[in-house]
Amino acid sequence: MKISIEDVSFLLVLASLLSTLKISSAIDTISTTQILRDGESLVSSGGVFALGFFIPGNSTNRYVGIWYNNIPGKSVVWVANREIPLTSISGILKVIEPGILALQNGTNNIIWSSEMTRVAQSPIVQLLDSGNLVLREANDDDPENFLWQSFDYLSDTFLPSMNFGWNYATGRESYLSSWKSKDDPAPGNLTLHLDPTGYPQLLIKRGNFTMYRMGNWNGVRFSGETDVRGKRSLYGLVIMNKNKIYYREDVVDRSVKSRITLSQNGVWQRWSWVDGIQEWVRYQVLPSDFCDAYSSCGAYSSCSITYSPTCLCLRGFEPKDPYGWNMNDWSNGCIRRTHLNCKGDAFWRYPRIKLPDSRYSWFMESMTLEECKVECLKNCSCKAYTQLDISSERGGCLFWYDLRDIREIPFDGQDIHIRMAGSELGNNTKKIAVDLKGKRRKILITSLISLMGVVLLGMSLMLYFCKREKNVPRGRTGGSISKDFEMQLFDLSTISKATNNFPINNKLGQGGYGLVYKGTMEDGQDIAVKRLSETSMQGLDEFKNEVMCIAKLQHRNLVKLLGCCIQGEEKMLVYEYMPNKSLDFILFDQTKCRLLDWPKRFHIINGVARGLMYLHQDSRMRIIHRDLKASNILLDTDMNPKISDFGLAKSFGGNETGAQTGRVVGTHGYISPEYVVEGIYSLKSDVFSFGVLMLEIVSGKKNWGFSHSDHHLNLLGHKEGQRN
Ligand SMILES: *[C@@H]1O[C@H](CO)[C@@H](O)[C@H](O)[C@H]1NC(C)=O
Ligand SMILES: *[C@@H]1O[C@H](CO)[C@@H](O)[C@H](O)[C@H]1NC(C)=O
Ligand SMILES: *[C@@H]1O[C@H](CO)[C@@H](O)[C@H](O)[C@H]1NC(C)=O
Ligand SMILES: *[C@@H]1O[C@H](CO)[C@@H](O)[C@H](O)[C@H]1NC(C)=O
Ligand SMILES: *[C@@H]1O[C@H](CO)[C@@H](O)[C@H](O)[C@H]1NC(C)=O
Ligand SMILES: *[C@@H]1O[C@H](CO)[C@@H](O)[C@H](O)[C@H]1NC(C)=O
Repeated sequence: MKISIEDVSFLLVLASLLSTLKISSAIDTISTTQILRDGESLVSSGGVFALGFFIPGNSTNRYVGIWYNNIPGKSVVWVANREIPLTSISGILKVIEPGILALQNGTNNIIWSSEMTRVAQSPIVQLLDSGNLVLREANDDDPENFLWQSFDYLSDTFLPSMNFGWNYATGRESYLSSWKSKDDPAPGNLTLHLDPTGYPQLLIKRGNFTMYRMGNWNGVRFSGETDVRGKRSLYGLVIMNKNKIYYREDVVDRSVKSRITLSQNGVWQRWSWVDGIQEWVRYQVLPSDFCDAYSSCGAYSSCSITYSPTCLCLRGFEPKDPYGWNMNDWSNGCIRRTHLNCKGDAFWRYPRIKLPDSRYSWFMESMTLEECKVECLKNCSCKAYTQLDISSERGGCLFWYDLRDIREIPFDGQDIHIRMAGSELGNNTKKIAVDLKGKRRKILITSLISLMGVVLLGMSLMLYFCKREKNVPRGRTGGSISKDFEMQLFDLSTISKATNNFPINNKLGQGGYGLVYKGTMEDGQDIAVKRLSETSMQGLDEFKNEVMCIAKLQHRNLVKLLGCCIQGEEKMLVYEYMPNKSLDFILFDQTKCRLLDWPKRFHIINGVARGLMYLHQDSRMRIIHRDLKASNILLDTDMNPKISDFGLAKSFGGNETGAQTGRVVGTHGYISPEYVVEGIYSLKSDVFSFGVLMLEIVSGKKNWGFSHSDHHLNLLGHKEGQRN
């Protein structure tokens, strides 16, 4: 008989299978007379899960854990000795009297053990098909009467049929905690809880700091949950009574394998095993964008990744700190335009949102929505209401006394009714229309504030100039600021005249701060004027710094600031005018993009890189731009690129290269992952954005909004190999 190559390889596979079978002998129970050694495993009766010794990632340490028995890749769902690893292969797991599961190392020291709840006669350990490792009496008829169970001591994975939450009888909370790293299953800083304050909701925290909310349970799903495809085969349930409060999921079909993990960065991920492709498919991710970060928009405002800017005050509310708001610092949130007086109030219905933080709420069961409204009107601290359980007519009410962390969820969101002064309701539509039109305001030419503003700026410019004089060696042409920086203070009347009093049809676009208008000076020079929306006195300092920051930057690939204008509430920056507008106008336009041949695209990439290098390395202060994107690259007549919009820029000392912020700013699609997830920004954040920009320039496609028939990834996720 002839043996072909295929037969040989088949024999080899068979041989290796046989050898693994020999090593891992599986048992289904551990009793006091048995032990489990490294290389052996305890398998659940249906063969779904296995318990044994494993080595995570690149570590050399050993741990006892549970994983899916027949799924390749060993996804560990539970770890016993998370904090104290075994350092040699000589560990054993055994059950000891009077009812403890213990892990001993090579010198017979117990390095991990289960908590003892009561004395047992003949304790045994079993692994159930749910993935629950239980310790019970061998002859106990009650299948749920456990001495101890691993489902009370979770690692980073949530499985169906776990009771996730609080058991007030034992005072125990079961919650997820991330691994420290892929190599180390010790509890990391990130945790997922069912928080029972107000009305129960799922929260992801770092230490005591709330990072993200999945939202409260509305009878069908968590209010912040999107993309529930992976949940079709599961039903969830929140149980609340005096003794316990927990969430659990159960599978409709026992063959379904589903799990939720909390990654080292605090990302919630729901996975389902798909047999056909032999892979874990990820269905849900939280956070999935900027709006998922806790309270990104502060109180009384709503976040939407489709707005620009991302945050909008709720109807009838206005920014608490208008200056910060215009700088894209939304942390202070919004306040009411008209105070509530508790009488004659009415409600605005907001459709399809993620409900606000339910830690600031209380609830009543078995009521209709109409009854909720009546109840809410009775209590002056009730600021909003909605239906508690959307699956039933008399689903009860959820009432809020404070509204935080609202975002739009276009398809799966829920409606909320927000209390407003009655007078606001009549007024509102008109006011909103005006707001959207760009806040045309009467210009106050003379006011005390304007005088103070000019005097302050003048003084600070002089102060700065004096300081500079001391530092800069003599011999340079000193004299006046305007000569030094080629920057001047313009009169409001000059600018009004140049722009023809800011008509809306002269609008060039919208920058991070406010609207940009085109204008022509008396001498014929074209200018672009960025007009900051009306601001408070407190913003003046920041504005001054901003002016100084941009004025000090001189590079052919940065947009040139000609001057500024400060008068009263008006603050404006005057730039040179760029006839070819911004890169996105040309790049993403089907006809205009033909203007950009390859040498021009290369020229643009090169220019942006030079500008960025200047900001990062060559300028006197290191500057992180933080909002590099196609619409912030302006093009002059010769298609030379110029980086613009330093609204979010940060300057650094010589040695610093980054920092951490609680608030992520920038533009979706260009923000680096570590900045979104950890709030850490550095020079590298700009480099990431530059990379995205470069891909966009080369491909002519937007990263955000990119679509492809084969997959749901954005431009970054789209790989060369997938193109065919
Ligand atoms: C293990 O180390 C290799 C090489 O250093 C690395 O490529 C791999 O990503 C590491 N794996 C894990 C899980 O850390
Ligand atoms: C077992 O654990 C004890 C106490 O933690 C330690 O002193 C001993 O060195 C360990 N033995 C081995 C073989 O790791
Ligand atoms: C946990 O947080 C502390 C302080 O916030 C930090 O020093 C430590 O490095 C963090 N640990 C991990 C694993 O991230
Ligand atoms: C978290 O909050 C609890 C209770 O408010 C407090 O005891 C604990 O010290 C806090 N932990 C940190 C790291 O701030
Ligand atoms: C309003 O509701 C809050 C929260 O339940 C409660 O503390 C307060 O006593 C109520 N006030 C009135 C006047 O009913
Ligand atoms: C509009 O709102 C103002 C307060 O912002 C109020 O004084 C006025 O009465 C309202 N007008 C109407 C028609 O409701």
